[in-house]
Amino acid sequence: MQIRQMKLLPEVGSVKPATVFPVLALGLWALQVIGLGIATIPGAKAQSPIIIQFSHVVTADTSKGKAALKFKELAEARTEGKVRVEVYPNSELYKDKEELEALRLGAVQMLAPALSKLGGDFEVFDLPFLFKDHAAFRSVVNGPIGQNMLQKLESRGMKGLGYWDNGFKVFTSNRPLQSVRDFKGLKIRVQASKVLVDQMQKLGAEPVVSPLIDVYKSLKDGRLDGEENTPINIDSQRLHEVQNNLTISNHGYLAYAVVVNKEFWERLPSDIRIALEGALRDATAYENELAEADNKKALEHMRKAGNLNVLALSPQEIKQWRDVLSPVYQDSRAWIDPALVTSVLAATSPP
Ligand code: LMR
Repeated sequence: MQIRQMKLLPEVGSVKPATVFPVLALGLWALQVIGLGIATIPGAKAQSPIIIQFSHVVTADTSKGKAALKFKELAEARTEGKVRVEVYPNSELYKDKEELEALRLGAVQMLAPALSKLGGDFEVFDLPFLFKDHAAFRSVVNGPIGQNMLQKLESRGMKGLGYWDNGFKVFTSNRPLQSVRDFKGLKIRVQASKVLVDQMQKLGAEPVVSPLIDVYKSLKDGRLDGEENTPINIDSQRLHEVQNNLTISNHGYLAYAVVVNKEFWERLPSDIRIALEGALRDATAYENELAEADNKKALEHMRKAGNLNVLALSPQEIKQWRDVLSPVYQDSRAWIDPALVTSVLAATSPP
């Protein structure tokens, strides 16, 4: 990962590390917390509010960004100021992979990463053409499969509090992507997920894993030819301004898990934790209400901007895409629990 100079780490109790490289900053921060036994430990300072730093990589006006702010509003009101939530959007603090490391070390307390970025079994949600609609996704994650997966995060030092929706992904590119043959040789950005890398290889493209915040510049400079994402993310990162074509392929799904540092969470006084769980439940309902409509609005907004050739796929073309991508299911059984793939397929009826 490229290491760049970052802004100040946020205030953590009384500790404010100097401007340093992120990895070094995380290391120093961890040493301070372990060595001095300070201040993010809830209740360590009777009078000061408990700080929850919530870092994410999309803009504040996306569904996820708005829900993070809703959580802040509800959490602060319901704990009567005993908790302060600091939301850092659009990779202000950490880029995609760094934020998970920051959570692990306790340098931030809360994230809502895309499921793809959690890796392992969570990549099951990246399988192509898996869900027919938002409801199909929700019924899997809100049922025993999704809840069991959240529980398994505990062995990785995280506590999964719930799922937030986003929606179906589309492709943008410089060359129109209509037939699967159109992908040949193109450099396409994907999130760090083996399923997504495999998917691009099946299409004959060259997958490039890159943090979201760098995609605009890479497309502009020609280091990338295209990318896949939801209309919300494409519009809010202004990627359509540096691309000529958008294919409404709906070939995959993007959604989030809301996770907290487990140790931090378990050390919260129980009344505070209960209030925060309630705030999160309501912020989750709010987010899930917004996502589908926000994606429609984002697509319309990009259409109206006028510089994009918006392509739809015919039923024959969709079949061709599905046929080319279907071997990813078999491949993924090498790194995703095969029983999980089978049970997700049984719990949903793929389109
Ligand atoms: C991406 O990296 O494209 C997404 O995970 C961003 C996000 O958080 O929606």
